Amino acid sequence: MTVTIERPAVHPGPPKLGPDELLRAQWETLATPRMSYSLLARMMFKPVDLLYGKQGSFTKFAMLEIIARVPYQAWERMGYWAVHRHRTRSALARRVFERIVEARADQDNEQFHLLIVEDLIDRQGLSRDWLLHRAAPWLIAFFYYHVSWVLFLVRPDWSYRLNAEFEDHAEHEYMSFVAQNPDLEHVPDPGTYAAEYGRYRSVADLLRQIGHDERVHKLDSLESMREPRVRANR
Ligand SMILES: [Fe+2]
Ligand SMILES: [Fe+2]
Repeated sequence: MTVTIERPAVHPGPPKLGPDELLRAQWETLATPRMSYSLLARMMFKPVDLLYGKQGSFTKFAMLEIIARVPYQAWERMGYWAVHRHRTRSALARRVFERIVEARADQDNEQFHLLIVEDLIDRQGLSRDWLLHRAAPWLIAFFYYHVSWVLFLVRPDWSYRLNAEFEDHAEHEYMSFVAQNPDLEHVPDPGTYAAEYGRYRSVADLLRQIGHDERVHKLDSLESMREPRVRANR
C-alpha cells in the first residue's frame, strides 16, 4: 500500500517591498515609539551598545544578526520535542510542526540578513577582531539561546515577547541608521544575494527591507503570544 504524506507548505517569509513601500515602512517605524523593553532585553542591548557603540553600524548589525537566529533555533528544538511528545495526536503534532516550519523560515531570513551585512562589511574593507566579532557574539548568543528555551518551557508567551522586543530594537536600528546615513541612497545594492533576497535600488533600500523583515518578525511574535501553547482545535 502507498502512503501519501502531505508536506507542509513552504513558509513564504516576510514580503519583499517596492521602493515607495520601503520608504513608507521606514517612515512608519521612525514615527512609532520603541516597545518598552524588559530587563532581560536590556541586559542584551546594553553590552551590545557598550561594545559596538550606541549608533548603528555594519559591524553592530552583524553582531545583532548572529544572535537574531537564536530564539528561532531554540523554538525549533522545543518544537521537535513537542512533536515527539504529541506524536500520537496527529492534529496537535501537525500544528506544532507548522510552527517549526515557521521558525525555520525565520532562521533562514535572519541568515540572509547576516550574509548581506557581512558582504557589505567585506566590500568596505572594515576590520573585525576576534574578541568583538567572534567571542562576544558567541557568548551573548549562548546566553540568549538558553534564556529562550527555558522561557519557552515555562512561559512561552515571555519567550515570544522577548523576541518581539529584540525584533523591535533591530527594526528601529536599521531604519534609524538609513535615516542618519543619506549617502547610502547613492550606493547601489551589490546584489550578492539577489537570487535569494531580491535586488534593491540602493543599499539604503536593502537595509529598509531588512528593517521591514524585523517588523514582520516582531508582529509574528506578538501574534504567537496570543496562543503561546499550540492547541489541536483552532
Ligand atoms: Fe535580522
Ligand atoms: Fe528578525
